Amino acid sequence: MQNNDQLLQIIENYLAQTEFPAEPELLYAPIGYSLAGGGKRLRPMLLMLACGIFSDDMQRALPAAAAVEMFHNFTLLHDDIMDNAAMRRGKPSVFAKWGQNVAILSGDAMLICAYRLLNAIAPQHLPQVLTTFNTMALEVCEGQQYDMDFEQKAKVSVVEYMHMIELKTSVLLAGSVVIGAMLGGASEEDCRKLRRFAVELGLAFQLQDDLLDSYGDERLGKAIGGDILEGKKTYLMITAMSHADEATREVLRNAHRDPTLSDTEKIAAVKAIYDRLDIPRLTEQQISLRFERALAILDTLSAGPERTKRMRDFAAGLMDRKH
Ligand code: IPE
Ligand code: IPE
Ligand code: MG
Ligand code: MG
Ligand code: MG
Repeated sequence: MQNNDQLLQIIENYLAQTEFPAEPELLYAPIGYSLAGGGKRLRPMLLMLACGIFSDDMQRALPAAAAVEMFHNFTLLHDDIMDNAAMRRGKPSVFAKWGQNVAILSGDAMLICAYRLLNAIAPQHLPQVLTTFNTMALEVCEGQQYDMDFEQKAKVSVVEYMHMIELKTSVLLAGSVVIGAMLGGASEEDCRKLRRFAVELGLAFQLQDDLLDSYGDERLGKAIGGDILEGKKTYLMITAMSHADEATREVLRNAHRDPTLSDTEKIAAVKAIYDRLDIPRLTEQQISLRFERALAILDTLSAGPERTKRMRDFAAGLMDRKH
């Protein structure tokens, strides 16, 4: 059986082998650009590893693994428009490079390509996989809408935030592991447990993404402080709002739209408050809590620790990331 590095290589090779027509160039070139642009390949790795818990034949899960990565990249093309994000994986986002219309249509084409990849799934698994995939895909849209709604909302609770990130981020991780587990022949109960594992892991992952958006470095490949400039209700912002006095809350509410401040000054002003209120540490605590919960669920699977070890190692590596 392959180690995790080899597995990643297998996924990369499979993705690289997907061919797209040369014309119309502005439809297909952004797809190649997006798929070849790096990325951690988190979702296909989770899918393959989940399959590997229950079966020694992980190859059968490759088309589905490619489908979830394709779907993920589609969401990023549209997300960068919605978040006004000019940089992705250390390069111009599709939206910044080719414009909004190209990012919309190439994104749509990627969504269709994701379904085309699912076509290769064995017929006995296809209905179940499609049901899972469809539910997941729609829930991601729901989460993305809440994310945008919350930008305009004066007060967002931690519970509302957790629900939003479960939808926009966790459900895709959960869909990936459940599809992988189904293809590996897992029982319904194991699928349910793995879903809960991935939901918790996804919450930890998005919390960490929020933290890195303000406190990461250039290795993140995205513009640091983007969430602050967009007025996003991240875990950092919500926690700061609930710990601050009224005068500070007023600064937090308005910094991103203060015409007297440059972008750098806006980011610095908000981060100074985060630092004073110990927000990075509080966020780290929440990340660890969610991650520990995820691991505890992994221990309850019918498969023994020798079969879940690779998933555990992969998840642990994810939590150490700086980008
Ligand atoms: C970015 O996902 C979107 C989020 C859910 C935070 P990743 O951080 O997995 O993006 P890539 O694919 O590795 O670039
Ligand atoms: C993205 O969340 C979630 C989806 C793309 C569905 P973010 O907007 O935080 O992701 P990044 O930070 O741009 O990668
Ligand atoms: Mg977003
Ligand atoms: Mg974004
Ligand atoms: Mg983010």
